[in-house]
Amino acid sequence: MSVGVQGKIAIVTGGAQGIGKSIAETLARNGATVVVSDVKAEQGLATAAALGGTFFPCDVSDFDQVHALVDACAARYGRLDIMVNNAGINSNRPEDRVTADRYPIETWHKIINVDLHGTFHGCQAAAQQMVEQRSGSIVNIASVAGVVALRLQIGYVAAKAAVLRMTEAMACELGPMGVRVNAVSPGSTLTDGTRELFYNDKDRAEHILSFIPQRRPGETTEIAEAVLFLASDAAAYVNGHNLIVDGGWTCGFNRDF
Ligand SMILES: NC(=O)c1ccc[n+]([C@@H]2O[C@H](COP(=O)([O-])OP(=O)(O)OC[C@H]3O[C@@H](n4cnc5c(N)ncnc54)[C@H](O)[C@@H]3O)[C@@H](O)[C@H]2O)c1
Repeated sequence: MSVGVQGKIAIVTGGAQGIGKSIAETLARNGATVVVSDVKAEQGLATAAALGGTFFPCDVSDFDQVHALVDACAARYGRLDIMVNNAGINSNRPEDRVTADRYPIETWHKIINVDLHGTFHGCQAAAQQMVEQRSGSIVNIASVAGVVALRLQIGYVAAKAAVLRMTEAMACELGPMGVRVNAVSPGSTLTDGTRELFYNDKDRAEHILSFIPQRRPGETTEIAEAVLFLASDAAAYVNGHNLIVDGGWTCGFNRDF
């Protein structure tokens, strides 16, 4: 199988670090021209420079900034072939890891604004350009938390579940106009953030890994390869799909009775 992103123009939101950085690197390594976008300008510039792409600052929760991002890409490169809506946040503050009856409303709004509204802004801005072109591929980064309910993070669970259903609805709407919309749902993936939060503590790590059949966290490159496939022409007939990359976490109860 050859992966066809040679010569394509891609945007990756939240591309400065973590999974987004890996996605940007993987797309670039396979021949795409990548616009890295993030709220972190210094890191975003460094990531973009390392892969020969460009950086455009953008807070995805701001409708106008996301439309300006897509407009800038189209003005510079004449088109947009791949839009990866990766930017996302969660909260691990103890005061936010509580049941829904006590979940802080400001945390709810903050997460919904970035993870759900931000993804919609990216989809809509990209779709306007892609419908005009009659071609394009949008990949939304959701989460296993959108596939199965996890406790004590209601804002994140709700946002990611909505992203998955929105992905399907847009696939139905935009398919006739030549635009594919898919999602990738990562399981627990090793980044600087998750290493510090979960994997530096041996007991906590063992507890998390006991739920994952492959007994290890995912690598950011393993998420990026799934995005590369969906973004590419190799997935030309894949539309409205959620590709779960979680080591088997959500495939069943990993427990003995
Ligand atoms: N790491 C995991 O275990 C995991 C698991 C499931 C899903 N995900 C999802 O993968 C995506 C990337 O996560 P990650 O682990 O690499 O996180 P990360 O925190 O390492 O990186 C996220 C990037 O998004 C940027 N960002 C945050 N808010 C933004 C905004 N409003 N506008 C633009 N950029 C913004 C950050 O600056 C950062 O560069 C997220 O959507 C996350 O929900 C991650």
